[in-house]
Amino acid sequence: MKLNTDKSTSVTDALNTRITVRDFLDTPVPEDVLQTLFATAQRTPSGGNLQPWHVHVMTGDKLAAFKKDAVERAQGGMTDVPTHQAYPSPLWEPQRSWRYKLGEDMYGLIGIEKDNKMGRLMWLMQNIKFFEAPVGIIITGDKRLEMPQHLDIGIYTQSLMLLAREAGLHTAPQGWWRNWHSVCHDHLDIADEDEVLVGMSLGYANPEAPVNSLYADRAALNESVKFYK
Ligand SMILES: Cc1cc2nc3c(=O)[nH]c(=O)nc-3n(C[C@H](O)[C@H](O)[C@H](O)COP(=O)(O)O)c2cc1C
Repeated sequence: MKLNTDKSTSVTDALNTRITVRDFLDTPVPEDVLQTLFATAQRTPSGGNLQPWHVHVMTGDKLAAFKKDAVERAQGGMTDVPTHQAYPSPLWEPQRSWRYKLGEDMYGLIGIEKDNKMGRLMWLMQNIKFFEAPVGIIITGDKRLEMPQHLDIGIYTQSLMLLAREAGLHTAPQGWWRNWHSVCHDHLDIADEDEVLVGMSLGYANPEAPVNSLYADRAALNESVKFYK
């Protein structure tokens, strides 16, 4: 599917054209565009209006220094104990198959075979460079938050992703940073009681990158939604 880089003018279009972009151009995002995007995302609803998201936005030299340190730590073999597991283990059907298919579709597009474990690992490490995006975002929340507040932060994350499309931008939400949180704490002004919940790459998508043509499948409507009359 061809990547759409136009500015979305409807919520429907933003939803339909949003994909996880894993290759960005280095074109900077203008400061006023960033300010508007994050100011608007503040309108995200949350249970009890708790607004539990703490958002750390890196650009320029700050982002470069963060990435340099993160890459060096990765090369040194360092990993952190994840703040939360990405998935239940073992994963059950049909989620297990969806996850498997995503991997096969993605690695198929970029031509990394199943038995090329090192190639796949190296590709995964693109996460640590925010897929070369000019904006790197880390979202933290208090460790004492309950599940409903994590939902709120998920809704906030979607607000960012849809607003990005309206600005002609694309995003990659990244649970990855739950596994690489110490570099976040060392570089950012994160409160002691906070933990890293999710990250995000933000910028202009590279329309030539094969990986950006991945339009991940979705279940048929009746597999997810039951209508009652
Ligand atoms: C909360 C969340 C965390 C994610 N973490 C990662 C990640 O760390 N790395 C990555 O490449 N994709 C990540 N993804 C992207 C998913 O793989 C992607 O959303 C899913 O396959 C559907 O594809 P689409 O976003 O292109 O529609 C994440 C998505 C979400 C919503």
